[in-house]
Amino acid sequence: MPLPLAVLISGSGSNLQSILDRIASGAVDARIVLVVSNDPGAYGLTRAAERGIATQVIAHGLFSSRDEYDQALLDAVTAAGARAVVLAGFMRILGPRFVRSFPQRILNIHPALLPSFAGTHGARDAAAYGVKLSGCTVHFVDEEMDHGPVVIQAAVAAEASDTAETLAARILALEHRIYPQAVAWLAAGRLRVEGRKVHLAQARATLAEAPPGAAYLVNPPLEQGF
Ligand code: GAR
Repeated sequence: MPLPLAVLISGSGSNLQSILDRIASGAVDARIVLVVSNDPGAYGLTRAAERGIATQVIAHGLFSSRDEYDQALLDAVTAAGARAVVLAGFMRILGPRFVRSFPQRILNIHPALLPSFAGTHGARDAAAYGVKLSGCTVHFVDEEMDHGPVVIQAAVAAEASDTAETLAARILALEHRIYPQAVAWLAAGRLRVEGRKVHLAQARATLAEAPPGAAYLVNPPLEQGF
C-alpha cells in the first residue's frame, strides 16, 4: 500500500513538486495526504492544490510557544493519516514533541553537504566560503538542527565564479533527484537506521556504475526512475 505522507513546506515547493512527479510516474510508492505550510503565501500550496491534495496553513506566529505550534502540526498530520513526514524547504525547527512522534519517519533535505553549512542558508554559505565541492543531503530528522542520520548525498563542483544563486540552482537540480529517491526507499521499507548509519537494503548499483565524467556524484547511487 502506498505510504501516506505529510509534506511540510515554507516556500516554492519545487522539492514537493519533484516528489509529486515521481509518485505520478510510479517511481515512488507513496501518497501525499496533506501539505502544510507555515507561510500562507507559499507557492507550494498552489502546486499541491493543483494536484487535488489537501493543504493547510499553520502559521507559527499564531502560537505562543514552539510546543503549541508542534502540537498543532502533529494534530494536523496525524488527523490526515500520515505515516511519515517529509520536510521540503520547511524553515522551522521541529521540537521534541513532534520528532518523537515519528521516530525515524521524518526526512529533511538540506542544500549542502552536512555537517558542513548547516542552517538556513546552506548553499549561500558554501558559495561564500569558496568550497570546491558542495551538494545536498537527505537525512532523518532528530532533535538537533540538520543533524540526523544521512540517507543520501549528492556532490557538485563549485566554482570561484559561482554566486549563491548559481550554486543553489545547480544543487537544487540534484535535490529534485535525490529527495524522491530517498522517499522511495523509505516508502519501500528499505532504510534501516543503526546509530548514525543508514543502511539501504537491496542496494542495486555500485558507485563504479556512475556515468563516467558525470559532473556530480551521488551516494548511494540513484536507481532507475530517478
Ligand atoms: C531547498 O533548496 C531546500 O534544500 C532548502 O530550501 C529550499 C526549498 O526549495 N531547505 C533548507 O535550507 C532547510 N534548511 P523548494 O521550496 O523549492 O523545495
